[in-house]
Amino acid sequence: MRVLVVGANGHTGRRIVRLLRDGAHEPIAMVRDTTQVPHFGELGVATVVADLEEPLDPALEAASAEALIFAAGSGSETGPEKTLAVDRDGAIRSIAAMEAAGLSRYVMLSALRADPGSEGSPISHYLRAKGIADEHLRRSDLHYTIVRPGRLTFDEGTGKVELEPDPESGGSIPRDDVAAVIVATLDQKGTVRKTFDLVEGSTSIAEALSSL
Ligand SMILES: NC(=O)c1ccc[n+]([C@@H]2O[C@H](COP(=O)([O-])OP(=O)(O)OC[C@H]3O[C@@H](n4cnc5c(N)ncnc54)[C@H](OP(=O)(O)O)[C@@H]3O)[C@@H](O)[C@H]2O)c1
Repeated sequence: MRVLVVGANGHTGRRIVRLLRDGAHEPIAMVRDTTQVPHFGELGVATVVADLEEPLDPALEAASAEALIFAAGSGSETGPEKTLAVDRDGAIRSIAAMEAAGLSRYVMLSALRADPGSEGSPISHYLRAKGIADEHLRRSDLHYTIVRPGRLTFDEGTGKVELEPDPESGGSIPRDDVAAVIVATLDQKGTVRKTFDLVEGSTSIAEALSSL
């Protein structure tokens, strides 16, 4: 499949793009700044330039995409208004663009404890934004997979994960492994219309996903 990677220039997005390029699918990197294009050119990966705060239909069309991975986020350096504009509304805009294009396969990089009703956490505004976008996706007819990792680290990936850990235990996971799980879901029919929590663990990614 030709897979549009939204947030391709991010720490996890770049890992996703490389894995797709080295595997069975063809990534198209969506970036919002033309200075980011050469990096992907050097990898032999096509790009489209688009911003999640604008309609995404032209980007999907330009990419001739067949699937979409959402790995974007406003980040912790911006204010709550950007969290709403990117993590909530940008994600919802990408879901709408997929529906309008008649495309179905969508993989969402969400977050542990994403919840439309989140209260009492310093990042509740973020968890609500992600939770609302996830709910929107679940209500759609898209063939979605929603991956909810714990805290993302820069540790080297192990290829071993745990799905559905104790919700109270917190937990973290290398970005390498999140990217590997996200890419692997594309070839695992059992992950369609599923949501799962994800932290580092002791089960191979293939085995963990096949249990869904
Ligand atoms: N950090 C954690 O512990 C954690 C835990 C669970 C889940 N997550 C989720 O995982 C996601 C990925 O994490 P990460 O560390 O890889 O993120 P990251 O490095 O901050 O990458 C986010 C990407 O989103 C892009 N982006 C931001 N606003 C955009 C817009 N308006 N239009 C298009 N692209 C836009 C950024 O573009 P630029 O490159 O141009 O800035 C960047 O490439 C996070 O956003 C978060 O939702 C994070």
